Amino acid sequence: MKLVDTHCHLDFGAYDEDRERVIQNAIDAGVTRIINPGTDFASSQRAINLAHQHDEIFAAVGVHPNSTVGWSPEVLSGIETLAANEKVVSIGEIGLDYYRDKSPKVTQHHAFETQLELAAKLELPIIIHNRDASEDVIAILREWIPTLPDSLTDRPGVLHSFSASWTIAEKALEMGFYLGFTGPVTFKKADDLRVIATRVPIDRILVETDGPFLTPHPYRGKRNQPAYVAYVADRIAALHLMDTETFAAQTTDNAERLFGLSV
Ligand code: NI
Repeated sequence: MKLVDTHCHLDFGAYDEDRERVIQNAIDAGVTRIINPGTDFASSQRAINLAHQHDEIFAAVGVHPNSTVGWSPEVLSGIETLAANEKVVSIGEIGLDYYRDKSPKVTQHHAFETQLELAAKLELPIIIHNRDASEDVIAILREWIPTLPDSLTDRPGVLHSFSASWTIAEKALEMGFYLGFTGPVTFKKADDLRVIATRVPIDRILVETDGPFLTPHPYRGKRNQPAYVAYVADRIAALHLMDTETFAAQTTDNAERLFGLSV
């Protein structure tokens, strides 16, 4: 089986004790590539460092909405400098988070919009974090899409750890986005999310862990890791009446296409 975990925070302290083992576990489970998104400048830098130490790891660079307090043109140019690195495949994770309320909305919007402009300029797809902000995220993306260079029109990015309604899913799919699914799709009470995952065309689905968070069943409550992306793939494959291996190959193709990963 061949899988890509398109979203894991391997740079986080949760992996400081055994990061190399976690990466080896992933390889042993067939996870041949991992994308490590940044959440601020320092985290983006750490993601790049990890990507340079491991052929399997790629980096995304960006400032997460919860880390946008103190956003400035200097932060933006710092991210732009990092993005020039050869192992950077995306700008992310960026977006809006109205649930945690760690940064004023106006600041979140400004950071999101300027990082979107940067992604278009650098011709890099984006990784979007959206928590309780679907309407505003869709409205901002609608403005952004017409500004995209040809190289991004069929691969603008992914709505990571999708958790909104089918209406929002449809709007995102229409704009060319991929949808990323994480551990919650395996949870007992997540029937609504499973209905959505069933309706998404298989050539637009990505499987992610968002480790160390959102650990899938049967490890829920423990620390997440890229090897566990197989449980997410297994569950969605069954919804699509596919065997896991075929589904894994499909989502691996999707990840390669979206992020331009070398095969
Ligand atoms: Ni994340």
